[in-house]
Amino acid sequence: MSVSLSDPSTDLAPRARGSVRTRAPRPADGVAVHRLVREGGGLEPNTGYAYVLLCDHFASTTTLAVDAEDGALLGFVGAYLVPERPDTAFVWQVGVARRARGRGVASRLLDALLARDACRGVRFLEATVAPSNAASRRLFESFAERHRAPFAWSDGYAPSLFEGSHEREQLIRIGPLDRAPDSRPQEQH
Ligand SMILES: CC(C)(COP(=O)(O)OP(=O)(O)OC[C@H]1O[C@@H](n2cnc3c(N)ncnc32)[C@H](O)[C@@H]1OP(=O)(O)O)[C@@H](O)C(=O)NCCC(=O)NCCS
Repeated sequence: MSVSLSDPSTDLAPRARGSVRTRAPRPADGVAVHRLVREGGGLEPNTGYAYVLLCDHFASTTTLAVDAEDGALLGFVGAYLVPERPDTAFVWQVGVARRARGRGVASRLLDALLARDACRGVRFLEATVAPSNAASRRLFESFAERHRAPFAWSDGYAPSLFEGSHEREQLIRIGPLDRAPDSRPQEQH
């Protein structure tokens, strides 16, 4: 099953047009996502099993960016709806392969996440970001600007919650997002 989630001609984030397409993951994608995290730096690698779960149980929100020609994984956004607040999509991890950075791939992934069927009721996007991660900060600021949505920072998770030396994670909350009535075709399964 290959699910194409987005029409490149209508995506909001413009720079990744052409050679990139977004799709839902399958459990077999977990290996490549795990590898991308390990090789890309900047993200805390989890176990291979965690990425298989992400690509299976969270496949309705987790979204991949792949090379439109050879299918190679270029990036992913691992995300879920917060169980107690299903109007909120939480971005757990977003990563882009080094060779594909700076081309709008991550921006397109966030837009593709918002366009998923499971996110029809989403009005807020949340993520935690380490203050030193300029690329990540700018990614979410840029998303808020593109969607003309309020952007707020607050205390997220303190270093004391983590083992070892882990930078604090500030919480970003974007929204409410203005969701236009949806005339898109349903995702095919
Ligand atoms: C953060 C990351 C996902 C961004 O991916 P990307 O595809 O290069 O991002 P985009 O090209 O969509 O750029 C998004 C915005 O961030 C800006 N940006 C990208 N890299 C940047 C950097 N190194 N420094 C400052 N701003 C940066 C872009 O200019 C763009 O802003 P704009 O819309 O105002 O032009 C990527 O750098 C990455 O995988 N980093 C390692 C993993 C990580 O830190 N993930 C985030 C933590 S959850």
